[in-house]
Formats: sequence, C-alpha cells, structure tokens
Amino acid sequence: MIVGAQWGDEGKGKIVDVLSESFSVVARYAGGHNAGHTVIINGKKFVLQLVPCGVLRQGCRSVIGNGVVLDPMAFLKEVAALRDAGLKVDGNLFVSNRAHVILPYHRMIELAAENAPGRVKIGTTSRGIGPAYEDKMGRRGLRVADLLDLQLLKKHIENAVREKNMIAHALFNSEPLDADKMYAEYAAAAEKIAPFVADTAVLLNQALAAGESILFEGAQGTMLDIDHGTYPFVTSSSATSGGAATGTGIAPNAIDSVIGLTKAYCTRVGEGPFPSEEKGDAGQQLRVRGNEFGAVTGRPRRTGWLDLPLLRYARMINGISWLVVTKLDVLDELAEIPVCVGLKIDGKPTGEIPAQASGFDKIECVYHKMPGWRASTQGATEFGQLPKAAQEYLAFVEKETGVRVGMVSTGPERDQIIFADEFAREMQTRSPGKV
Ligand code: GDP
Ligand code: IMO
Ligand code: MG
Repeated sequence: MIVGAQWGDEGKGKIVDVLSESFSVVARYAGGHNAGHTVIINGKKFVLQLVPCGVLRQGCRSVIGNGVVLDPMAFLKEVAALRDAGLKVDGNLFVSNRAHVILPYHRMIELAAENAPGRVKIGTTSRGIGPAYEDKMGRRGLRVADLLDLQLLKKHIENAVREKNMIAHALFNSEPLDADKMYAEYAAAAEKIAPFVADTAVLLNQALAAGESILFEGAQGTMLDIDHGTYPFVTSSSATSGGAATGTGIAPNAIDSVIGLTKAYCTRVGEGPFPSEEKGDAGQQLRVRGNEFGAVTGRPRRTGWLDLPLLRYARMINGISWLVVTKLDVLDELAEIPVCVGLKIDGKPTGEIPAQASGFDKIECVYHKMPGWRASTQGATEFGQLPKAAQEYLAFVEKETGVRVGMVSTGPERDQIIFADEFAREMQTRSPGKV
C-alpha cells in the first residue's frame, strides 16, 4: 500500500500510476474529494480526487472503499471527465455501499465554522469532509446504500436539513437550505451512481482469495491523520496505513508491504505546525520549481526542508517497509540542501513528536547541510545516472530513517522514475493473497 509520509501531496497519484501496472485492483480507503492526485501521461494531465488512479490503467479495477466520504456530485463530475477522456469506468469502478455521503449542509457548516469568530481556522479544502465524518461517527450519517433507497433518502434529507438549518442559523446565521430541491437533485444522482455500487469488502476479499493483487492508494498524509497528525490541523480520517483495513474491509494481516512516500523536501497546505518550513526566498524557489500549488484549491503550498524526525515518526506509525522519494529534480539547482536531522524543545534535544499544536510552536529544527549537485536529475531512470551528491543525499535519508529507498521520482511523467532492483523484484513477486 501507498501512504503519504508528510502532509499530503507527496506524489501518491504518480507513484500509484507507475505501480498499478503490476496490480489488478487499486483501492482508496480514506478521505474524499479533498485529495488531489495528479498524474501526467504523455503530457496529458489527469487530476483525480475521488476515483483511484488505477482507473488510468486498462485492465485495472478501482474501488472507493467504505472509509471514503463520497460527494455524489463530485463523483459524477469526475466520472464524466474520465469518460470524456476515453477511459473505461463502467464495469471497472466500484463504490462501497457503506461509504458515507457528503451533502450540501456539510459544506455549508464547514464554510461557516471555518470563518466563525473564536473558532480555530484549519484552512480546510471546504469540501464538507469534516462535517460528513462527524455525522458518520455521530451515527446520523447517510451511507451510499441509503442514498439508493429513495424513501429513506427523502426522510433523511428532510430531517437532516431541518436540523442543520437550525444549527447553522443559530451558530453562524447561515441562509437555510431547501430540502425538496436537495432531494430532487440527490435522487437523480443516486440513479446514476447505482450501477457503481457494490459490497466492496466482499469484492476485495474475493480478489485476494483469487490470488489477485491489490494496491491501496492513500490520500492525505501521516501528519494529516486524525489521530497521529498535527491535531487539530489535520483532516478528519485515518490517512495512515491502519486506516486501510477499517476503510476497506481487508484484514490488517493481509497487508504485507507499506510504501511510504516523501518528497525530497517538504510541503504543507493549510494552517498548522510545520517545523522545517522555509519562509524566505529559498522556500519560494522550491514553490516555483516544484510547482507547489494545491491541485484542489489552487492555494500556494507552504514549502520547507526534509524533516527526518517526522519521517521516522511516519515510519513507526505506518510500519513503512520501503520509502519512495519524489521530486528529487526540484532540488537540482541548490548549492546546499538543509535537512532537519533533529528537534529541540527549549534548546534541548528531543525525540518526541508533540501531541499539541502549541508544543510544535516551541520546536526548533536542527539542520544538517548536505551538498547540492547543481546538475539535472530530471528524467533519470537509473541510480547510476544521478550525480554523486544526489546519490549521497538518498543514502543519507536511508541511513537516518533506517528504511531503504525503493523508488526515486525524477519528474512528473510516468517514465521519469528510478527503481531499486530489489524493490522492483518485490513488486513483481508479492505473496498471493496479500496487499
Ligand atoms: P498526491 O496528492 O500525493 O498525489 O500529490 P499531488 O499530485 O497533489 O502533487 C504532486 C505534484 O508533483 C503533481 O503535480 C505531480 O505531477 C508532481 N510530481 C510528482 N512526482 C514528481 C517528480 O518527481 N518531479 C516533479 N518535478 N514533479 C512531480
Ligand atoms: P492529497 O491526497 C494536502 C489538508 C487541508 C487542510 C486539512 C484539512 O492530495 O495528498 P479537509 O478539507 O481535509 O478537512 O482539510 O487537510 N488536506 C490536504 N493537504 N493534500 C491533501 O490530499 C489534503 N487533503 C486535505 O489543506 O489543511
Ligand atoms: Mg494532492
């Protein structure tokens, strides 16, 4: 499985696209259309938000698992765009009947809450993700199976809209939403979604039993995980590897390989702690060279240096067995590259990752400056093609994290990739019945 080891946007889309060649099924287990996974194939750009990137490979089935929150309108829009691009979605893409549905009042409440005085602003993607997961955990959500049950849908929308309008008016003075109009729109959407709906836990387990291989496509990243991230500046789901089991219905002991993705530097979108953030010119240079602008909201991403203590933390939380380093080419022009090798709190070294956002305010990074290579790595496909300093940079990451680098991405295109031999072999000869 593929999991983000930072704050998202590590290049999961590209890596899933490269690896999906050797997998029968690609499954999403968490998040919703807050994700933006960009894949570039022969100069053609695809930004996938809800649909797993496996859809771009012929013969690969795609599953939206129960742990995902599904915005029906966003889903249908994405499906239409994929069909227009000539891709086969019908009969190839499956949505869990147990996934929760995002409705317009989720967005209404999120937007109002984000801007309400006194509330901590998270800098969300405004997609209704948090409020939809709140309703799921509060046991008052609507699931995809319920969306297809029109009588139940009508009743659910009537009750929920009445309640949400009252809450939103009382707390934020929001304009009320119209339940009848909402029902008409979502009943029509339900009809179009119905052919995609399945018991995807059964589908995935049957695929495993038949010896097929499944690739989990993580969304967001470890530091955005609801439990293990920089709470409250996180998303509302379990983005880490543990979420893959509950988010799909595949047992945890079927997962045998966790591939952690990290950029060769670091970025974050939205508010919250970012110890190795580089706010000066060098940070701006990373943003420009790395084209660090959010795929979903267009916001400039905050940029900074690789943070090894956080990477070690991500390794621990996810059980990362291989690292993939992306966007190495973005560092090509730098004379030296700072890497955060340790953390200090109140001037004293610490091995702890703080549980509170306020704890992060006191954190200082200890930097080690690595020599840059000032040569192009763009498009390299062999470790041997990399300048010596780039090879040393990767070796340093391996030594400091204790995890081997299985792949290095050297550009956004599918073929701009380096495979370590052993990693490539492992991908070809995975244990049958394992993820
Ligand atoms: P995801 O959310 O983890 O799938 O990542 P995003 O797609 O949001 O962001 C990664 C961005 O970097 C995308 O625009 C990719 O096309 C691009 N990208 C991926 N790998 C590389 C790479 O190795 N080099 C460069 N320059 N760009 C890359
Ligand atoms: P991918 O899958 C980067 C961030 C938002 C915000 C916080 C909460 O492309 O890596 P939310 O809308 O989820 O309630 O917002 O999480 N965020 C992401 N940042 N990549 C993502 O997904 C993200 N999904 C959510 O910017 O800070
Ligand atoms: Mg993204």
